[in-house]
Amino acid sequence: MKKVFVAGGTGFIGPHLMRAFLARGFEVEALVRHPTKKDRLPPGARPVLGDPLRPGPWQEVCASAQVVVNLVGANIFSRWTPAYKRLIKESRVEATRQIVSSLPKGTVLLNASAVGFYGADRGEEEITEESSPGKDFLAQVCQEWEKEALEGEKRGIRVCLMRFGIVLGSDGGALKKMLLPFKLGLGGPLGSGEQWFPWIHIGDLCEAACFLAEKNSLKGPFNFVSPGIVRQKEFVKALAKVLKRPAVFPVPKLALKFIFGELAELFLGGVKARPQKLLEAGFRFRFPDIEQALKNLLKISSS
Ligand SMILES: NC(=O)c1ccc[n+]([C@@H]2O[C@H](COP(=O)([O-])OP(=O)(O)OC[C@H]3O[C@@H](n4cnc5c(N)ncnc54)[C@H](OP(=O)(O)O)[C@@H]3O)[C@@H](O)[C@H]2O)c1
Repeated sequence: MKKVFVAGGTGFIGPHLMRAFLARGFEVEALVRHPTKKDRLPPGARPVLGDPLRPGPWQEVCASAQVVVNLVGANIFSRWTPAYKRLIKESRVEATRQIVSSLPKGTVLLNASAVGFYGADRGEEEITEESSPGKDFLAQVCQEWEKEALEGEKRGIRVCLMRFGIVLGSDGGALKKMLLPFKLGLGGPLGSGEQWFPWIHIGDLCEAACFLAEKNSLKGPFNFVSPGIVRQKEFVKALAKVLKRPAVFPVPKLALKFIFGELAELFLGGVKARPQKLLEAGFRFRFPDIEQALKNLLKISSS
């Protein structure tokens, strides 16, 4: 049986991904920083205690897997003080370094990254995996993170960089944070709402990761975004329609800047990213349409 080792799997994306690998017959082992987090793992996944930022016995378990998934990273949705910015970068770069250094030749590494690689705001530009990187803080973090993962290529590891867009799931991430204000009828576009909103359904993310794990010819960066990209105001409209609530309260630019500081740039900018390499490789998205994706996630039947 093939084995997958997941680091950073105790957050939002990890449990979904582990369930997808388990359903495909993989044995799943997951790095857990603290015993209290063991219950984040789905039934059937085996916890391995350890800190991904430090060398330890966990690296031997990691080295015994054919597929390794790295999702480690301090959550970016916190106020960006200088110390927190260091943690955002170091948690990603150092964990990747520790993982890569433990892997033998022939392993597949699926490393998280983000469309933030291209910068927070690329206006109307069509972005593919060949586009140039951005210059802001998160873009620089993504570049260093990916560089560390790509070190594995020198050692015969097949490295796939999963540049996630905004991952939509009902139990975490951006959608969960937005649900309450929308349910209360207090939702609305952020700033002008004209910015592009590169989303992906969590189910498509999991299928695409398994697809990369199984296709030996694939490597390098992959935009994990739906081919049905919408503007932020269109996303808001679809969410309001699915929830049958009004969404007439735009959140002004200045308010976002006041509350979130530098992080606000992320909500106010947009990247019109296209999943070119996944499409070229023959991956079929189950949820290319935002309204259908939201209905599915919020368990609302189509009528
Ligand atoms: N969700 C999205 O929309 C999205 C979009 C683009 C990119 N990404 C990237 O995809 C990855 C997974 O996303 P997610 O939404 O599942 O993130 P998440 O819910 O915040 O989970 C992050 C994981 O990283 C671990 N972690 C956090 N800080 C750490 C530290 N200082 N040292 C070691 N481990 C640490 C957490 O462990 P504990 O549980 O022990 O804290 C958890 O397992 C992240 O790197 C994120 O940047 C996500």
